[in-house]
Amino acid sequence: KTPIYFDTDLGIDDSMALAYLLATPEIEIKGIGTVGGNCSAAQAARNTLDLLGIAGRADIPVAVGCHDWLAHPFDGGSPEVHGANGIGDIELPTAAAEPVDEHAVDMLIRLAHEHPGQLRVLAVGPFTNLAAAVQKDPAISELVDRVVVMGGAAMVPGNMTPVAEANVNHDPEAAAVVLAAPWQVTTLGLDVTMDHQFEEADRIALVDSGRPVAGAIAAMMDGYADFYTGVFGRRAVALHDPLAAAAACGHLTYASAPVVDVVVDDTDGPGRGQTIADLRGRFRGFPEQPGAHAQVVLELERPFAPMLLERIVSL
Ligand code: BDR
Ligand code: CA
Repeated sequence: KTPIYFDTDLGIDDSMALAYLLATPEIEIKGIGTVGGNCSAAQAARNTLDLLGIAGRADIPVAVGCHDWLAHPFDGGSPEVHGANGIGDIELPTAAAEPVDEHAVDMLIRLAHEHPGQLRVLAVGPFTNLAAAVQKDPAISELVDRVVVMGGAAMVPGNMTPVAEANVNHDPEAAAVVLAAPWQVTTLGLDVTMDHQFEEADRIALVDSGRPVAGAIAAMMDGYADFYTGVFGRRAVALHDPLAAAAACGHLTYASAPVVDVVVDDTDGPGRGQTIADLRGRFRGFPEQPGAHAQVVLELERPFAPMLLERIVSL
C-alpha cells in the first residue's frame, strides 16, 4: 500500500478528500496533520477525528499542526464559505479520540524518514506545515516520493483576490518555500478544480445512499452549495481538495499538466498570493522545462465527479 501523509484545514471539500482516501484500499493514511485555514488547526483536528469516528477509522493518528502562518497570524477562518466550525456548522458526534502528542510538522518529518522514497504528501490547506517541515529537516525533500497540493491559479482568476487562490493566499511565504524545495510537486489549482463540480443531484445521491460518511458530507455540502450559488449560478460545488486526493492516489489522467517553474508572489502588493507558472509554450501539453519540478495540472481527460461519488457512497 502507498503510504500517505494528509495535511488539511479540514473543511467541507477537505472532508470529501478524506472520504476519497478512506475509500481507496490501495493507499494507507499513515497520519493526518492539521493547519489553520478554513478553521483553526485545533478545530480542523476535531473535525477530522469526528469524521474518522463516523468512518470507524479511529486508528488513524491526527496531529495538530501550525495554528499561525509563517509570517502572519491565522485570520479566524472562512465562516462565509465553510461555516464557523469549518464543516458548514453541522454537528458531528464527538469522537472519543484525541489528537496525538506530536506536532504535525514532526509527524511529517518522521513519516518521511520511516518510508524513504515512498511517502506521498498530500496538502489541501495552507502549506505551512510542509514549509516548516522542509525548513526544519531539508533532507525530507529527497525522501518523499511526491508532494501533491491543492492550490494556486496559473491561468484563471483567484478565489480570494483577483489573482490568488485561498490556500496560497493564506500563507504565500509557505507556498514559496514548498514550490522552491527540490522535491517533485504536483499542483491542482483553480485551473482544474473549478471545472469539476458536485451538482445538487450528487448531494441527494449522497443522502439517498443512507451511508454515514456520505450523509455527513451531504449535510456539510448544504451551506457550501449556497455559497457556490453565487459563483456558478446553481447549487453546484467545486471539488478542489478531492481532486488533489485522487491525484495523490494516482487515479487521474491529465489532458494538460506541464512541468514548469512556479514562483509565488509573497510581496505585500496586489499580486500577493499569486502563483506565477512559466507556461510559455507549454500550456497545451506536457513538455518539461529543464530543471523544473512542479507539475501544474490544468485539465483532466475525464470527468471526476462520478469517481468521487462512487467512493463516498461506499462509506
Ligand atoms: C481551497 O481553499 C479552501 O477553502 C478549500 O478547502 C480548498 O482547499 C480552495 O481554494
Ligand atoms: Ca482545504
